[in-house]
Amino acid sequence: MQERIYLSPPHMSGNEMKYIQEAFDSNWIAPLGTNVDKFEEEICDYVGMEHGLALSSGTAGIHLALKYFGVGPGDYVFCSDLTFAGSCNPILYQYANPVFIDSEPETWNMSPVALEKAFEWALKEDKMPKAIIIVDLYGQSADYDQLLPLCRKYGVPVIEDAAEALGATYKGKKCGTFGDINIFSFNGNKIITTSGGGMIVSNDEAAIKKMRFWATQSREPEKHYEHKEIGYNYRMSNICAGIGRGQLEVLEKRIESKRKIRYLYEEKLKGLPIVFLPVTKDSSSNYWLTVVLIKKESQVRPNDIIGFLEENNIESRPVWKPMSLQPIFKKYECFKGFEADLGEKVFEDGICLPSGSDLSEAQIGLVIKLLLKLFKSI
Ligand SMILES: Cc1ncc(COP(=O)(O)O)c(C=O)c1O
Repeated sequence: MQERIYLSPPHMSGNEMKYIQEAFDSNWIAPLGTNVDKFEEEICDYVGMEHGLALSSGTAGIHLALKYFGVGPGDYVFCSDLTFAGSCNPILYQYANPVFIDSEPETWNMSPVALEKAFEWALKEDKMPKAIIIVDLYGQSADYDQLLPLCRKYGVPVIEDAAEALGATYKGKKCGTFGDINIFSFNGNKIITTSGGGMIVSNDEAAIKKMRFWATQSREPEKHYEHKEIGYNYRMSNICAGIGRGQLEVLEKRIESKRKIRYLYEEKLKGLPIVFLPVTKDSSSNYWLTVVLIKKESQVRPNDIIGFLEENNIESRPVWKPMSLQPIFKKYECFKGFEADLGEKVFEDGICLPSGSDLSEAQIGLVIKLLLKLFKSI
């Protein structure tokens, strides 16, 4: 059998070792160090934000942002429903209540219609959220022109969860710049990786300063170890940041490779009963993963595809299962848009196809050949 084809494996540029070597040469392995400072600056320059805070994960970033907005026990936080659990687990870390907002058909991101309903409910019930987490799913920006005015109308600060969307844009502006606080993930399967890591970016210097303090165990500026507040060990290591610097140099190339993969699938799978995750006219995706919906009328279901590809040593995955359907989050409110249960439909019919930026033509050709074979055979 051929070498395993993964969904979206790490793809090194070759320059990562240069930055790691510099850290070794200066014996500045940890804590923090030049690579961390530079990586923060370089990401900020790339997206056009003023301040960055490199962290051990994107989830840590969401946690710190929630804390910064004063989210505590019994509070409410709105969050996109169709997402990965890393978006909303931190709401529970703060003993607050998530309120989930379903997707809209254009981008599968947060529905403005559902959001408006949720705000009306919150006003009536006196459950106005302390913050709202808006996700840019699979590298496709949410519709900020619709969502942000609603958040402003109700005076609720926005955390943009751009974990999957580094390099994507909405109306020419980079994802990760629409929230008051914005987060990225550099986990192993993301468009660029630091092996594990994340970053907060914001134009609010005071916010970054406070979150930096919490992320380093809330150590007071004293010679001895003095602590007045709860703290976290959330910073990124100088080695991981070195990987990130080498990766950032090739981000645009990675987006281009992934864009080609998406359009190759689209061209070669024409005629099959599948629909691709839309890229809207207002946005440019980073094409992190090619995601398709299998039409209801098709005999081939997503699990058939996942199983068949797996038999051929190829990894594919279901779309995220909406948070409101997860046993741990089931008891919380979820608001729907025009099309009820859109996230659930996307989950039932969706599949993420192999999208690694280092897929060879032969590998992608094999995946396409197998898909065509499976659809023909049923
Ligand atoms: C949408 C989304 N939010 C948050 C996270 C959490 O990021 P991390 O894994 O770096 O904690 C991820 C990815 O892992 C994600 O895909």
